[in-house]
Amino acid sequence: MDDKRRNILTWLLNGSIFIITAKAIHSFIRGESLTKIQQPGKVYVGKASELFASTIMVNTVINNLPIVIYKESDEYKGLLLVCTHAACTLHFAEKSDTFLCGCHGGEFYKNGKVKTPPPQKDMTMITVRQHGDELWVVMPKV
Ligand code: FES
Repeated sequence: MDDKRRNILTWLLNGSIFIITAKAIHSFIRGESLTKIQQPGKVYVGKASELFASTIMVNTVINNLPIVIYKESDEYKGLLLVCTHAACTLHFAEKSDTFLCGCHGGEFYKNGKVKTPPPQKDMTMITVRQHGDELWVVMPKV
């Protein structure tokens, strides 16, 4: 009876090791580096070459927060698309080249600085890190 239990436990343990190894190999083959899994606080956005293939500004939602990523002088930068006045969502207006808030008419320059009150505080910057072609963001605590 004990031998049967030992055999079953050995079989389960070997199966678990096989599954974990297979998952790691599968991730490696798909091009997912293990660093993606091992970097707490940073969120993987995607490959810069794909995200910016046909646009200069990428809007996305990370951790339920809207952000925009753009490139300035060979460096990727990010802004939280949340108005600093009363937390309404901002949108980019190509016509004025600014971020507008539909709630009370606040306006921000492309670099996140306040252009038109009522907001008093500049938009929240998001740290964007580039590792090769991969873009990662460090989300602020809000
Ligand atoms: S919430 Fe944006 S201007 Fe008031």
